[in-house]
Amino acid sequence: MDNSKIKRYTVTAALPYTNGPVHIGHLAGVYLPADTYVRYLRSNKRDVKFICGSDENGVPITLKAKKEGVSPQEVVDKYHKIIGDSFKEFGVSFDIYHRTSSQMHHQTASDFFEHLYDKGVFTEEVTEQYYDEKAQTFLADRYITGTCPKCGNENAYGDQCENCGSTLNATDLINPKSTLSGEPPVRKETKNWFLPLDKYEEQLRTYIESHKEWRPNVYGQCQSWLNAGLQPRAMTRDLDWGVKVPVKDAEGKVLYVWFDAPIGYISATKELFDYARLDVWNPKAEEYYINQNTLSKGNWEDYWKDEQTKLVHFIGKDNIVFHCIIFPAMLMAHGGYILADNVPANEFLNLEGQKISTSKNWAVWLNEYLEEFKGKQDVLRYVLTSTAPETKDNDFTWKDFQARNNNELVAVLGNFINRVVVLTHKYFDGKVPMLMEIRPEDQQVIDELAAYPEKISASIENYRFREALSEVMNVARLGNKYLADTEPWKVIKTDEDRVRTILNISLQIAASIEILIEPFLPFTADKLMKMLNYGGHLWEDAGKMHLLHRGHQLNQAELLFEKIEDEVVQAQIDKLNKSKEANSLANAVTASAKENIQFEDFNAVDIRVATIVAAEKVEKTKKLLKLTLDTGLDQRTVVSGIAEYFKPEDIIGQQVSLVVNLAPREIKGIVSQGMILMSENADGKLDFVAPREKHHNGSVVR
Ligand code: MF3
Ligand code: ZN
Repeated sequence: MDNSKIKRYTVTAALPYTNGPVHIGHLAGVYLPADTYVRYLRSNKRDVKFICGSDENGVPITLKAKKEGVSPQEVVDKYHKIIGDSFKEFGVSFDIYHRTSSQMHHQTASDFFEHLYDKGVFTEEVTEQYYDEKAQTFLADRYITGTCPKCGNENAYGDQCENCGSTLNATDLINPKSTLSGEPPVRKETKNWFLPLDKYEEQLRTYIESHKEWRPNVYGQCQSWLNAGLQPRAMTRDLDWGVKVPVKDAEGKVLYVWFDAPIGYISATKELFDYARLDVWNPKAEEYYINQNTLSKGNWEDYWKDEQTKLVHFIGKDNIVFHCIIFPAMLMAHGGYILADNVPANEFLNLEGQKISTSKNWAVWLNEYLEEFKGKQDVLRYVLTSTAPETKDNDFTWKDFQARNNNELVAVLGNFINRVVVLTHKYFDGKVPMLMEIRPEDQQVIDELAAYPEKISASIENYRFREALSEVMNVARLGNKYLADTEPWKVIKTDEDRVRTILNISLQIAASIEILIEPFLPFTADKLMKMLNYGGHLWEDAGKMHLLHRGHQLNQAELLFEKIEDEVVQAQIDKLNKSKEANSLANAVTASAKENIQFEDFNAVDIRVATIVAAEKVEKTKKLLKLTLDTGLDQRTVVSGIAEYFKPEDIIGQQVSLVVNLAPREIKGIVSQGMILMSENADGKLDFVAPREKHHNGSVVR
């Protein structure tokens, strides 16, 4: 969109599902770039609304509720607050963080659906869906598990196999089972309303192709969807949690969550302006995290229906089709709405080389980070923006976190600011000294500084936030180099006026940094503002001299960043490794799940209580012990692989469970008659399975 035509901006960030807290992947992928963009726009005095909220409908929520044994409402109440608080504490400066369980949203989404219905947009189709007769409910794909037809994984979901990654239909699964009752589901007919995406294909193609400037990953995904040919898609579901379908014969049906969620952007905007219209505070301000600093009166429709509004959706790559195909088709079908000018979707952020996983607890949760790294929001903001997965998946590691903090934030940015402010206090009582004679080497620095804001603007406006941030850091590097070259701490002995000039220029650089860094590191900018005693944040001032006037009084220097020690990051790595252990335990438990057997098969195994009467190491082996066992029937020799866990002398007298009718086998030249049962812990540690109290040798185990 031509910059001169833009009157205002609507910037949205994907509504997170309220089924768990948010983690660094969310922040890096969506909320930080969005916040940076919006802060930049505000600093440029542009009219912008930054919209987000909780996605509280749909199957992810009902699944979580089932798992925790609480109601869906309790789940969304809990996580709306946790997520909303995390965003707030990280300085993600939404104008509103709304909820799709709100009255406003239900009404807006319902009206939107009705409008399409009245226009005759939908087709009604009766299809066969899986139904759980015991639980008396239709089953969303996620509620069905079975064997993946592609890879044989027995625990594939109805929509996806997590083992091989294929997208599935519930009806593809072999031996499908309902996760509600455990019973095989039956097929039952049901009527739903479909949006005929095929009818909008040409219009969508024209729209997408008019945006060749989009990121290649986004543009490419859209092209491949269009080239594959669009199919009608059900916009209603048989489910009891969500926005009720507002037409006749639709009992027990709700809007498809991907129909209602993007409408959530619109309902949030409406709620915001509704709130702003009233001049009295009301509790919604808190529930919806309404930003009191940016509140303005106006009309929501300007932000959604005016051609001079630039609409930008920040999302993760798994949301592309919904924002670039389905939501635009809905808006086209409705009529009167503008379409997104850009959809800067990020790739994924991995953690220590592995995919972030909520279910495996392989994540850095924002709420936990805030507790463990108090006051260090900007460190994470910095690291996540510096490594943002803008063009490809990227990796977060704690070592890199530490290195970027110590080598960049502390050594470059913090160091420069601290030196300038401290020297000004030392030589000039903290008053900005006068600019005296400007030498060619000063002019060169002044010119270089002046060129940065435009460069950084261009990066931000093209959604290249990593690049923009590294340019801001280069401004600090410029300052450090200037100080190193001019050495005011030496010159002060001979030429005070020269130091006046050097520190004046350095202070102007610091003030520019305050402006330029604010979109990225707002907490640091605030500290810097306090130190410089300068209320900046106006982009147009950045890069200029005379931001701080001669005689202007600075406040005391305060360290912006501190070194992060090895122990601190090691503790984080250890914490992750604990998750890994817990997972391998979970795996050990599920991995052993075997096919059912008949009682006869089990009964064929003769297990008896026996006592170890002698034990010795098997020579030239690490794992094997030769045991002599009293089985009540006889004394016999058994070779067992337990030497790493037990010393021979410690286990004399130990009772064990022994499979006595296992065919004898020769191991290392010793005939082993039977096998003792051992329980194996997740870490591989073995222990005996034995009666709690002594039983007679030969007692049957069954
Ligand atoms: N809740 C979705 C997710 O986490 C995102 C919804 S974005 C919106 O993947 F468009 F629906 F709002
Ligand atoms: Zn599979």
